[in-house]
Amino acid sequence: MAKREDSEKKLGDDPFEGMDLAWLEEEKLSTRRTGTPSDDEAKAEPALGVTAVTPVGPSLPQATFHFPADFKWGVATAAYQVEGNNTNNDWWAWEQQEERQAEYRSGKACDWWENAEADFDRAAEMGLNALRLSVEWSRIEPHPGEFDAAALARYGEMLQGLRERHIEPMVTLHHFTNPRWLAEQGGWENPETVDRFAGFARRVVEALGRHCDLWCTVNEPNVYGVWGLVGGDGPGKVPDIKTATRLIRHMLLGHAAAYREIHAVQSEARVGFAHNMRVFDPANPRSPLDRLAARTLDRVYNQNILTALARGCWTLPLGFGLAWKLRRTLDWIGLNYYTRDLVAFDRAQSQLLFTRRTHAEDAELLDGGYGEFYPNGLFRCLKRLARLNLPIYVTENGIPDADDDQRPRHLLTHLHQMWHAIQLCYPVMGYYHWTLVDNFEWADGWTLRFGLIALDPETQARTPRPSAGLYADIVHANAITPQIIAAHAPEVRPKLLPR
Ligand code: FCB
Repeated sequence: MAKREDSEKKLGDDPFEGMDLAWLEEEKLSTRRTGTPSDDEAKAEPALGVTAVTPVGPSLPQATFHFPADFKWGVATAAYQVEGNNTNNDWWAWEQQEERQAEYRSGKACDWWENAEADFDRAAEMGLNALRLSVEWSRIEPHPGEFDAAALARYGEMLQGLRERHIEPMVTLHHFTNPRWLAEQGGWENPETVDRFAGFARRVVEALGRHCDLWCTVNEPNVYGVWGLVGGDGPGKVPDIKTATRLIRHMLLGHAAAYREIHAVQSEARVGFAHNMRVFDPANPRSPLDRLAARTLDRVYNQNILTALARGCWTLPLGFGLAWKLRRTLDWIGLNYYTRDLVAFDRAQSQLLFTRRTHAEDAELLDGGYGEFYPNGLFRCLKRLARLNLPIYVTENGIPDADDDQRPRHLLTHLHQMWHAIQLCYPVMGYYHWTLVDNFEWADGWTLRFGLIALDPETQARTPRPSAGLYADIVHANAITPQIIAAHAPEVRPKLLPR
């Protein structure tokens, strides 16, 4: 991980220096004894609010952060990143370039097409009751208008497998990849893709609707649109903002058209989409230009899409005028939250709306240039989404951390922020951690490891990271307890349970 020293300094080199540590030993013991919280705690009614528990230390605050009884605890995945051998789409075609080494090729990925069930078992063992996965358009509709019954049957089998394990599936219909034939016709730049996608959605729901009623139409239209523009590698070329906004507009129209098709087939369906939000703060809060730059990025990246879907109007640069087709096409909203940026005004960056993204000097950074460790951003995004008056799912949140030295802290502090949002009655219904098992991370290939469980893609051997145990403990307790904190990341105690 990057800048570990700084972060440790921030929390204090030893937050327990000079303290009587008997409580810590006691907490660890009680966690080890049961694997989850102490017996009293386990019996306690799951309820909202902080419930005092029997103090085990002299004067340290003791509290348990409970989650609602019907809270959904899950993990999120995407077809291309886990299934393997998805040879018929634009990413696969792109990945075959000669200069790409094995480390940057998806290959068998996590072998889910052959054996997703072994990982479903692992999810069930962890106590998860939800799992977000996507279906691969290029498998289901390998040629325009031709649907593959065997591929649909395999997805049906997977969804049934989840149900049998008491895990509720959320199915994403588009997670970044396009069938080759669609890409050849211009992909999402082509307005005809909107109806093609709606037709695909209808077919999927007709075939799989008996196993699933929670649908996520599209994943991160903003990331899909701007990825190429900000230098991200991948099959789609995005030469300018105009192209980026066209891609996003078509994807939102695709969402709306799919929303209607899905409801026509399944009236009880719950349909939403996954919105990637980043927090943008001014690099220098006293500079009006930096403030303007941060507001601009926030509007373009976070807000325009929300305004289009929630209020039914396009705002510049996404578009202009009414977007009536988008109205009333959300039953819930998904939040994919990873990080925040500080934004400075930069007159040299006309392509990026005169903005430059940076980090605070003392920020703790995530591996692989993934940005700043900033748990409060999750709360800030949830607060903003709560204004839409829709159920919210955290459809992704996680961290690339092969050695798992940040993830336990990351998990605890982010879940604590989400708990705080729930206390304020923001309607957060579930959390899907990105991700269960290390998967193929797009252009970063196998170099970024987001899994609670480590994977050797060569041998397919899996090794749970300590964070897998932490997440399982939280899920089983449906709470963050002092014992869990003590056992997995005692250094966050002063933050979560300040004196
Ligand atoms: C999100 C993507 C997901 C994964 C995570 C790390 O933006 O939706 O597929 O790559 O980032």
